[in-house]
Amino acid sequence: MAEPLRIALAGLGTVGAGVIRLIETNAALIAARAGRPIEIAAVSARSRSRERGVDLSRFAWVDDMSALATRDDIDVVVELVGGEDGPALALARAAIAGGKGVVTANKAMIAHHGLELAEAAETAGVALRFEAAVAGGIPVIKGLREGTAANAIERVYGILNGTSNYILSTMEATGADFAQTLAEAQRLGYAEADPTFDIEGVDAAHKLAILASIAFGTRLDFAGVDCEGIARVRAADIAQADRLGYVIRLVGLADCEESDTGEARLLQRVKPCLVPRGHPLAHVTGPTNAVVAEGNFSGRLLFQGAGAGGGPTASAVVADLIDIARGEAGAPFSVPVADLVPIGRAEGGERTARTYLRFTVADRPGVLAEMTAAMRDAGVSIESMIQEGRPEEGGEVLVAMVAHEGPERCIRHALSLLADSPSFTDRPLAMQILA
Ligand SMILES: NC(=O)c1ccc[n+]([C@@H]2O[C@H](COP(=O)([O-])OP(=O)(O)OC[C@H]3O[C@@H](n4cnc5c(N)ncnc54)[C@H](OP(=O)(O)O)[C@@H]3O)[C@@H](O)[C@H]2O)c1
Repeated sequence: MAEPLRIALAGLGTVGAGVIRLIETNAALIAARAGRPIEIAAVSARSRSRERGVDLSRFAWVDDMSALATRDDIDVVVELVGGEDGPALALARAAIAGGKGVVTANKAMIAHHGLELAEAAETAGVALRFEAAVAGGIPVIKGLREGTAANAIERVYGILNGTSNYILSTMEATGADFAQTLAEAQRLGYAEADPTFDIEGVDAAHKLAILASIAFGTRLDFAGVDCEGIARVRAADIAQADRLGYVIRLVGLADCEESDTGEARLLQRVKPCLVPRGHPLAHVTGPTNAVVAEGNFSGRLLFQGAGAGGGPTASAVVADLIDIARGEAGAPFSVPVADLVPIGRAEGGERTARTYLRFTVADRPGVLAEMTAAMRDAGVSIESMIQEGRPEEGGEVLVAMVAHEGPERCIRHALSLLADSPSFTDRPLAMQILA
């Protein structure tokens, strides 16, 4: 058998320890499939004494992880530290400059610096792989790079954040409100102590930008993701959606459309959406992730599975290592960075969708007329309307509407007409219905 692929692990937390366990448990089959063994030569983390449930005694311990970039007993550095820049980025840059391949699970770093790192890796002739950065254990990057390589992808979308999906599907099951469900998710370990990136959609946006670049062969544009999280979704929205035949999911969607002048435009957005109960994404509950890719010949493909966790994420990391061991790494973004096409951002106003609108209004006469007048003036046609409760005299009333299919710009216009109205107790919430 050929020489082993020698790797270094930077970061020995959930994913790093998972990689050690996986490489040890499946060593024989990995060697058979890779054509050579994958051997851990050196490891690094912050604390040498922390108990990690894995035996580190056979590996060289390195206190300063930047030293991994220059060791000559290492072929590939596996970056499992995390963070958009800081030590993770410094290590990835140095490893590539030192002629080593890099495998990472770090979506924040790839979303912000992926093109720079890919360009450096291509110039240096080394591998850069990041399957685990998108949807954890689901081989969706591989699916897009290889399985659908012959297709023009029409759109790619999905549930890319397990924490948000856990919260929304738990609210659906229990009827509890957002804050209560988030607290419970934190207690159970489904949400971080600081859940900002997850609940505000930033984590999903990192993954979406990476997927969009690979799916459409375009330069990665994280700043172009229009992003809104789930914190404003109320239990009442979920109940109304249920009555109408929908569930609410945080959906990341990338779609390449044509502008009026015939140019391609890329829409990237992460937003809570109403998903019809019969749609495959409606059945994705708990911390599961799912990605749908629609190819012009393959049709709709669904990739579903664990979006996080030591085992599933390690599975994706080691799959990348096996490709590198086989000499099959390819261009990080499927085509060389120089050939990625810059696609302008879609503004989205002309896109049509049915839209759910929720207003919370002070219970006083004339408010409904004010709302329907704004809809009429903006050219929004209302399909159905539900008014919820009249808890006490002068209390808050929830009004939910579904607007017929129409351009987004009309919905925006209607909301702008109502923006300064004193009738509302909260900013209206608009959620598109996924078609
Ligand atoms: N957890 C998942 O399910 C999952 C899924 C997909 C992708 N990812 C990505 O995988 C990466 C790792 O995630 P994780 O959950 O394994 O994180 P984690 O459990 O917090 O582990 C991070 C590791 O990095 C080490 N570290 C942090 N700062 C360091 C520094 N300045 N110098 C040296 N070592 C440092 C820590 O050392 P100590 O242990 O000594 O503190 C720890 O071992 C992140 O990019 C994350 O986004 C994670």
